[in-house]
Amino acid sequence: MTLIAPSKEALALHGGAPVRAEFLPYGRQSIDDGDIAAVVETLRSDWLTTGPKIGEFEEAFAAWVGARYAVSFSSGTAALHGAAFAAGIGPCDEAITSPLTFAATANCVLYQGGKPVFADVCEDTLNIDPERVSACITPRTKALLPVDYAGHPADLDELCIIADRHGLTIIEDACHALGGEHRGRRVGSISHMTVFSFHPVKHLTTGEGGMVATDNPSFADTLRKFRNHGISSEARERQAHGQWHYEMVLLGFNYRLTDIACALGLRQLSKLESNLARRRELAKKYNDGLRGLPEIVLPVVRESVLPAWHLYPVRLNVAALSAGRAEIFQALRAENIGVNVHYIPVHLHPYYRDRFGYKPGDYPAAESAYERLISLPMFHGMTDRDVDDVIRALEKVMDFYRN
Ligand SMILES: Cc1ncc(COP(=O)(O)O)c(C=O)c1O
Repeated sequence: MTLIAPSKEALALHGGAPVRAEFLPYGRQSIDDGDIAAVVETLRSDWLTTGPKIGEFEEAFAAWVGARYAVSFSSGTAALHGAAFAAGIGPCDEAITSPLTFAATANCVLYQGGKPVFADVCEDTLNIDPERVSACITPRTKALLPVDYAGHPADLDELCIIADRHGLTIIEDACHALGGEHRGRRVGSISHMTVFSFHPVKHLTTGEGGMVATDNPSFADTLRKFRNHGISSEARERQAHGQWHYEMVLLGFNYRLTDIACALGLRQLSKLESNLARRRELAKKYNDGLRGLPEIVLPVVRESVLPAWHLYPVRLNVAALSAGRAEIFQALRAENIGVNVHYIPVHLHPYYRDRFGYKPGDYPAAESAYERLISLPMFHGMTDRDVDDVIRALEKVMDFYRN
């Protein structure tokens, strides 16, 4: 008797029926009626910008992360720029960061005329490797810029030791990690300055927006001036004191977050705990549902941390598959699963290659991870059904391409 192998299910990429009818994005905001009411209330108030909501949001945010101060910015990128300025990064200075991040992390050093220096990542967490950081330190190093990739806090203990030893400032890019914890301490309460983003795919949104958390009053003061043209007082203070006089004391920008955005941020902050709990639940569902697929390498969580799960990035075990990442990505998209890739290593972008001469092979751990990475949909508004659809699509696609 001849055994006939059961035929594989036709992929949507090849004209088969997709796993779900509607496209599931990799991330999206959740806005409820309370959020809308808070924004409308501010729209009816006297202050659309530079008003009372800014201080309220900053205080509530600082208290939540466990920092003395929080200074809001118009985006995470602007907040990174402010932190690079406050850290005193200037021409000829170097700051060490991860190649596996969004370009904004490294760009903020360039805005200040400094040079971003990359240290390769650890193979497990894809966060910057402290040993490789140590090897990059020179007399010009001014700051370390670790990234909490996907929401998994970087190796902050080791990085703090290195920073103390060499007198460096740590600017932690926690744009993925609001609500993450490292040895029981919340991200935002550990580094000299911690930067957050409030883009709609993040844990809390203000449309566009960002924040720097710090315990250092001098950093906080500089950050406040920097986001307001370098001016030493704010319009509301001047109005309250009946004054017209102000002084520009440093070269800053208009990086202010509006009161409209802060009203939304305050409301969103009140839901942060439940958003985080849902993301952790979703990560567990993925872990449980995908553990049996040998073609998928699940994200690693070190014992010392509680991740915030901004992303759920898996790595493909390409040796077990008859197609590469690009085809598998397309196949999942055709199934209406909005997968993404985080990130093209920064040093491989044309700007960085042309300006600094970087080339493939310079940071092998980041590059090898990049070749295999796929971010699965992850946002707190996802339903159990959505997760089941993603798992089902992965099973279908892996089954098709299994060697
Ligand atoms: C790691 C990282 N750093 C910085 C940023 C920049 O934040 P924003 O988009 O708020 O400017 C992002 C944005 O996604 C990010 O993921």
